[in-house]
Amino acid sequence: MAENNTCSFFMSYFEIIGGESLQGEVRCSGAKNAALPIMAGALLASEPVRLENVPRLTDVRTQARVLRELGMHVEQIDGRMLLETVDPRPVRVPERSAQRMRASFCTLGPLLARRRKAIVPLPGGCAIGNRPVDLHLKGLAALGAELQLQHGCVVASARRLTGADIDLCGPNGSTATGTANVMSAAVMARGVTILRSAALEPEIVDLGRFLIALGAKIEGLGTPTLRIEGVDQLGGAPHRLIPDRIEAATLLLAVAITGGSAVVKDIVPEHLETVLQLLRAAGAEIGVQNSGVSIQTPKRLRAVDIVARPYPGVPTDLQAQWTALMAIAEGTTRVQDCVFGNRFLHVAELNRLGASIQCDGNTAFVKGVSSLQGATVTAGDLRASAALVLAGLAAEGRTIVNRIRHLDRGYELLDRKLQRLGAKIERRTVQPLNNSTPNAVAALFNESSRLASG
Ligand code: EPU
Repeated sequence: MAENNTCSFFMSYFEIIGGESLQGEVRCSGAKNAALPIMAGALLASEPVRLENVPRLTDVRTQARVLRELGMHVEQIDGRMLLETVDPRPVRVPERSAQRMRASFCTLGPLLARRRKAIVPLPGGCAIGNRPVDLHLKGLAALGAELQLQHGCVVASARRLTGADIDLCGPNGSTATGTANVMSAAVMARGVTILRSAALEPEIVDLGRFLIALGAKIEGLGTPTLRIEGVDQLGGAPHRLIPDRIEAATLLLAVAITGGSAVVKDIVPEHLETVLQLLRAAGAEIGVQNSGVSIQTPKRLRAVDIVARPYPGVPTDLQAQWTALMAIAEGTTRVQDCVFGNRFLHVAELNRLGASIQCDGNTAFVKGVSSLQGATVTAGDLRASAALVLAGLAAEGRTIVNRIRHLDRGYELLDRKLQRLGAKIERRTVQPLNNSTPNAVAALFNESSRLASG
């Protein structure tokens, strides 16, 4: 497997010298949240699967490791990935892989459909709040799976799944990976499944298109109601993953927060419609091309409120970055997250950079300030990291963003892409010394932070 040149290391951090206005052209990678369930879906194929536009990310590598542990041959060379089942017997996802990444839970539906049994650790709570899987289990139970919770694992079995009429609506709307799990199981169930309140996210539509390429019969993709006619066997197929709309939007916001102008290419503009409307409302000039979007921004944007909701609403995966953008906009912004109501880890760190943000329940109130000042901040999750990078690009002086391993889970070479646009951002790694104790390593790390903030 080609080594990922994003060196994801627990001692890596970004050093950013803010104030450069970003200009130029940049290309987007394939979508992480399409890659992960589609890789799991390859468990269903009886022949090799070839994926293209696969991003080189820590999460993709973790999913590849999970699939190898499930008897698959997985090989990634640059953006291409080959997946093939070599041993169809394993059904247990090891705990250590499940702990690293929630999307390992997407193997549950495919394992159950193809191998009739699955033992998959329950994904725990995580840095962005409580993330239940009751809807995944409800859907699989409706298809006839027997489910038990044993020692923190979902133990699932079924002689043969049977089609059913299932509504996957939860308290906050549809579920993306829940839809992925149930759809991936239903494609090999006996008879017809009607899946209601299905997720509309382009990544789930992409999974559906992939399953159809393997031979599945799915109607209604991109609408809330799917009709799935089960088949006995699925073959193999090539499939090109859609571009990452969250990466694209993050890059557009990076340009916007620096008052720059640029073109973000290799994207599907219609996946970004809501975000483009927000940017226009904030005062940016947006031009839409075939597979690209140009943005030109004034020195200061206007405050625009958002409410994060499932697609086609404003993505929760962009809530933190929008909060960063609004931190230096003119006026006060209300940022509400109706998907993950506790996803505000970035707020305290943005305030450390001079922002003025107060949280109340699932809402942040952002009072725009005229400028941010560089400081040392620590990322708590993937999108919070991206928000801190954006803020650092706009802040006066030097910003250190620690713990960027979170960022490497979901952004392919973000630092290089931003450099291409003229950003002063460097990845730095503190090498642990030979035989260094954790304390010695921590001391080095603190030293890097001290130097940085000085
Ligand atoms: N929910 C339930 N019960 C369930 C499942 C979900 O109540 O069984 C609730 C959740 O608590 C949440 C809402 O439904 O309030 C939506 O959650 P969803 O299930 O859609 O989230 P997910 O599938 O676990 C995916 C992405 C996340 C992204 C969310 C929302 C992947 C691998 N992950 O998670 O991506 O935030 O959808 O769009 O696709 C990220 O990339 O940073 C990330 C966290």
